[in-house]
Amino acid sequence: MRHRLLVPGAAALGLLLAVPASAASFTPGAPGAGDSYYPESGNGGYDVSHYDLRLKYQPKTDLLEGTATLLARTTQDLSRFNLDFGLKVSEVRVDGRKATFAASGAHELEITPAAPLERGKQISVVVRYAGKPSEVKIDGYTAWARTPDGGVAAQEPESAVWWYPSNDHPTDKATYDISVSVPDGTQAISNGVLASQSSKLGWTRYNWRSDKPQATYLTTLAIGKFDVTTGTTEGGVPVINAVSKDLGANEGAARASIARTAEVTEWLESVYGRYPFNAVGGYVPNVPAGFALETQTRPFYGKKAFDRGANVSVVVHELAHQWYGDSVSLKGWKDIWINEGFAAYAQWLWSEKEGEGTAQELADYVFDQHPADDPFWTVKPGDPGPDHQFDGAVYDRGAVALQALRNKLGDKVFFGLLTSWPREHAYGNASVADFVAFAEKKSGKPLAGFFDTWLFQQSKPSAGAARQALG
Ligand code: ARG
Ligand code: ZN
Repeated sequence: MRHRLLVPGAAALGLLLAVPASAASFTPGAPGAGDSYYPESGNGGYDVSHYDLRLKYQPKTDLLEGTATLLARTTQDLSRFNLDFGLKVSEVRVDGRKATFAASGAHELEITPAAPLERGKQISVVVRYAGKPSEVKIDGYTAWARTPDGGVAAQEPESAVWWYPSNDHPTDKATYDISVSVPDGTQAISNGVLASQSSKLGWTRYNWRSDKPQATYLTTLAIGKFDVTTGTTEGGVPVINAVSKDLGANEGAARASIARTAEVTEWLESVYGRYPFNAVGGYVPNVPAGFALETQTRPFYGKKAFDRGANVSVVVHELAHQWYGDSVSLKGWKDIWINEGFAAYAQWLWSEKEGEGTAQELADYVFDQHPADDPFWTVKPGDPGPDHQFDGAVYDRGAVALQALRNKLGDKVFFGLLTSWPREHAYGNASVADFVAFAEKKSGKPLAGFFDTWLFQQSKPSAGAARQALG
C-alpha cells in the first residue's frame, strides 16, 4: 500500500490525529529533474552523494543480479521519491527499514519510505534487483549491448536504467564503488581504479572505485574477455586500457589507438590544465558500434571506430571530454555544445599540432563545405533539440564557433579561457549561457551577439560575419 500524501482534505478522512500537523509539508519528489529535453530523466527531492553497487553477471544467460546502496540527502520534506530504473526490484529499504515500491512510467521506481523524510536528512536507500538487461526494452530500445562473451552499458544520454537504479541526470553527480562478480577468466571493466580483485568458488570479483563526482551516464560497465594493459602518465595518473580479445581484423588498430592514451592526456593537460581524475584509460569491447563515449576516466570505443585503421583523433575527442563534459558537466541536455563543441575543437587542435591541418583550415573547410541552403545550418549547436543532439552540426558548427571566438579574442585570451573554464567549474555543472557570460567576463567584450550568430541562428552566418570571424 502506498502512503498517501496528507493534504488538508485528509482531515476529513480522519487521518489528522495519525500524522503530525507539519506532515502537510511532506510531498512526493518530482518524477523528473526538470530537463527540457528529457522531462522524465532524474528526479526531485534528494541529492545522491555515493553509489555502492554490488553486482553479479552471468554472460551465458545475461542475468544481472545486484544490490545498490545509495547515500543521499533530502532536499525537501519527502513523502516519497523516485529512482530511475528498468530491471525488476525485489526489495527496497530506506534507512534500513523496508519501504514500499512500485514501477511507474517508462522507467520510474516510486519508493515510499516507512516514515516521511525530513528535508536535509542523510538517507540510505538499498535496492535489490535482478534482470536480463538486453531484454528490458524502453520504447523498444535497450542500451545494454550483449557481446559473445559478456555485455556493455555505454550510451548517451541514458544507460544507467538498464543496470543500476539512480537519479539519472547529469546535475546529480556522485562517487562510485562498483563491485562486479563474473565467472573466472572473464573481466569486468568500469570507471576509476581497480581497488582490488579476488577469486573464489569459480567467480572473480572486481572492485572499481571513482572518487570524484561522476554523472550517471558516464558510469560504465563492460563484461567480457579483455586484454588489460596498465601504466602511468608522466604526471603519475594510472592508465588502465582494455581491449576485447575478440576484435578480429580491428584488434591492431584498436590497440595502437588507445595505446596513445597517456600521451594524449599529457598533451591535453598542456592545453586544459591538470587532468581532473584518479585514473585514465579506455576500453574497446566487441560491439558492432561506430560511436565512442567519454565514460569517465575510461572512454568506451565501439569496434567500428577502428574499421579504417588507427584512430587517435577519437581518443583525443573522448579524453578532451574528461575536462569538457565529465568534470564540467552540462546543466541540461540542451547545453550539449558545452561537451561536443569543445571535444570536436580538441581534435582540430591535435590536427594542428600534428601538422595535419590547422584549426583555421578545418573551420574554413566546414564553412565552405556546407552551402547556405544545407540543413546543416538549421541545427542550432546552442540548443539543437533532442532529435538533433548528436548531429554533425553540434560538433562541426560547434567547433567553427570556437575558431571564430579564437579569432575574435586572440590566442592569449582564447587559450586562457580553455584552461580557466575547466579549472573554475571543476566537478560542477554549467550551461551554454554560463560559458557566454564567462567569456564576456574574461575578455571584457560583449559577446552575446557573436554567440547568437554562431550558435543560435538557424542559418549560415553571412560572408561578412565569417570574414570578420574566420579571417
Ligand atoms: N558523446 C559521444 C561522443 O562524444 C556521442 C555519443 C552519441 N551516441 C550515439 N549513440 N551515437 O562521440
Ligand atoms: Zn563527444
